[in-house]
Amino acid sequence: MTRTLAPDDTGIAEAAGLLAAGELVAFPTETVYGLGGDARSDRAVARIYAAKGRPSFNPLIVHLPDLAAVEAIALVGPNARALAQAFWPGPLTLVLPLRDGAGVSPLVTAGLATVAVRVPAHPLAQALLRAFAGPVAAPSANPSGRVSPTRADHVLDGLSGRIAAVLDGGPCAVGLESTIVLADPDPQLLRPGGVPVEALEAVLGQPLALAGDGAKPTAPGQLASHYAPEAGVRLGVTMAQPEEVLVGFGPVQGALTLSATGDLVEAAARLFQTLREADQLAGPNGRIAFAPIPETGLGRAINDRLRRAAAPRG
Ligand code: TXA
Ligand code: MG
Repeated sequence: MTRTLAPDDTGIAEAAGLLAAGELVAFPTETVYGLGGDARSDRAVARIYAAKGRPSFNPLIVHLPDLAAVEAIALVGPNARALAQAFWPGPLTLVLPLRDGAGVSPLVTAGLATVAVRVPAHPLAQALLRAFAGPVAAPSANPSGRVSPTRADHVLDGLSGRIAAVLDGGPCAVGLESTIVLADPDPQLLRPGGVPVEALEAVLGQPLALAGDGAKPTAPGQLASHYAPEAGVRLGVTMAQPEEVLVGFGPVQGALTLSATGDLVEAAARLFQTLREADQLAGPNGRIAFAPIPETGLGRAINDRLRRAAAPRG
């Protein structure tokens, strides 16, 4: 059975002990809940793939408490350092050259010479990483292809019985996964996310190349259809059809709304929970329609997730 651990010293110590024993523990970050395992252990990492039902060619993000811990496993170039200093701890993942002898399981990197690393800001994630004192591989804590979890009960909906425990930190503040950047030598956006592109470009002092056109998979393993609710999804809608649950934004009113005031930060935080609610309202034969979301700031990441939710299912 999957245990729910309280967000206190006892819960953190138990979670760290389970990770040290090679078990899987879901934990809150400011983006979404991660499904954590010891990144040095082939067995723990293999369990992550098995619990998610994830194709094993899809590499994982390694979570560490600070830049010094990152430098023990990866090489930090000049652009990466500038971004790390500006946005860590926070919702940014950097793809960096893996250091020789880093000790990270090749299952984490899927055999690549690079490793994706992130320093999360959430206080419970920080406490867990410091208590465990090792690198934690963590994809989002949902079955592969489904909606990412932003609350402990979302984790249990998808993974109960398949992982040892979930550390319950309440709802995630950002609500969208981290932005993934390949920083050096030429900065490239691999996945839009919790840090807006405009903020990255301001720090880099140059434009970010977009890897792919946003509809095609860019970071390996990013499949076109993802975040899939049960119901079909239609985008850019201002008037719902019968049988459609309309999710509004700003002036477009629906049965639900991402943000009645048109606030993209609020919309990001509510996106995955709202997808789940809309799915339930739509029922077995219903469909979900989303109001248009502007393609600026966090809107870029919201639209990326919505396009994947609406993509034809494989
Ligand atoms: O906010 C987040 O990033 C969450 C929390 C838990 O940290 N994690 C997350 O992990 O979204 P996941 O596994 O759902 O997405 C990881 C992404 C994948 O699209 C993968 O292709 C990319 O990171 N990735 C991992 N290693 C990579 C590498 N070496 N090169 C390029 N992309 C990589
Ligand atoms: Mg995911």
